[in-house]
Amino acid sequence: MENGEYMKRTIKDFDLNNKRVIIRVDFNVPINNFEITDDSRIQASLETITYAINQNAKVILMSHLGRVKTLEDKETKSLEIVAKRLSTLLNQEVKFVKETRGELLEKSISNLNPGEVLLMENTRFEDLNEKSESNCNMDLASYWASLGDIFINDAFGTIHRKHASNVGISSILPNGIGFLVEKEISNLSSLKDNPERPYLVILGGAKISDKIKLVENLVKKADHVLIGGAMAFTFLKSEGYSIGSSMVDDESLDFCANLLKEYENKIILPIDVICAKEATNDANVRICDINNIELDEMGLDIGPNTINIFKKYINESNSIFMNGTMGLSEIDKFKNGTIKIFEAIEGKNTIIGGGDTAGQVKNFGFENYKHISTGGGASLEFLQGNVLPGLEAINEL
Ligand code: 3PG
Repeated sequence: MENGEYMKRTIKDFDLNNKRVIIRVDFNVPINNFEITDDSRIQASLETITYAINQNAKVILMSHLGRVKTLEDKETKSLEIVAKRLSTLLNQEVKFVKETRGELLEKSISNLNPGEVLLMENTRFEDLNEKSESNCNMDLASYWASLGDIFINDAFGTIHRKHASNVGISSILPNGIGFLVEKEISNLSSLKDNPERPYLVILGGAKISDKIKLVENLVKKADHVLIGGAMAFTFLKSEGYSIGSSMVDDESLDFCANLLKEYENKIILPIDVICAKEATNDANVRICDINNIELDEMGLDIGPNTINIFKKYINESNSIFMNGTMGLSEIDKFKNGTIKIFEAIEGKNTIIGGGDTAGQVKNFGFENYKHISTGGGASLEFLQGNVLPGLEAINEL
């Protein structure tokens, strides 16, 4: 089936009847106090899982959850609560196996009947063994591949990673992509290849160092780039503004300064911010011109004048990609800028990318966008045209 520029095999190209079908999903969902706070990624994988069930497959699900570095991490990063939520959403039992290898896992899989679903424990538990999952150890991949007949990659959020559970297994088993990956690629391709112009990119969020280097290609492609959130302060500091104690990625200052020099008419930064001495709901806040941030203050949201300027660009755009929030939107006092921008881009030709951003959109009750991507890093990498190892590893038709 044609998917954007790709002609990848999809789950529909296989006879799944009575086959052990390993589906790599991205169930890396936010969890707070042992509660899932946003199950969008689980919901987004239901179409592929339900299809496999209806085709009488023996469904084996694999996912990572968070990053596993110590034995203690195993306690907070088990997929058991995800299995429960999935079982509720599917309205059928999901057999959860607390192991990532061994007799219990093998027996549970060989006891599966067609139409039944099993979820294996967090693939990154194997990272405690020389990062076997994250480093795509091929012994591990071969072992996991031996548990299935067909491999389907439906984990779009992880498609930019080269893991044993995606790239590794793909190199061994007959493989294809699931409906979620197919949908993500076709929606994101519309922005990557030929965006309707003016094309506006809105970036923010706190993961500055992860993303800042990804900005360059987007700036080249977009007509304008609005930068809010913590990321804005690295750019502002690189221009010589005093940003007080705002979050900053000092290693990227030269990079930002050069980018601003090269694209000074394209990159739009905040002109005012909401400042406070601490990032809590009890903090005293003030609207503050960016020339005016005190040394002990930090910028935690964009200000009203910035919102107006950003809205003007939004209204003039014909396609929009947004990744990252405009401030610390989990805290009521600093959510206004993000809400106002979500509101302004609703109903337009907008794609939202990013696990956290997608979660916030939902929390604030917005939904009228062309597409809400389940991938953060993955959607940014895709839009830049970078190779996505998880996708490359899937055979073409
Ligand atoms: C994500 O949430 O971006 C994906 O699940 C990948 O997770 P990672 O950044 O820990 O590899």
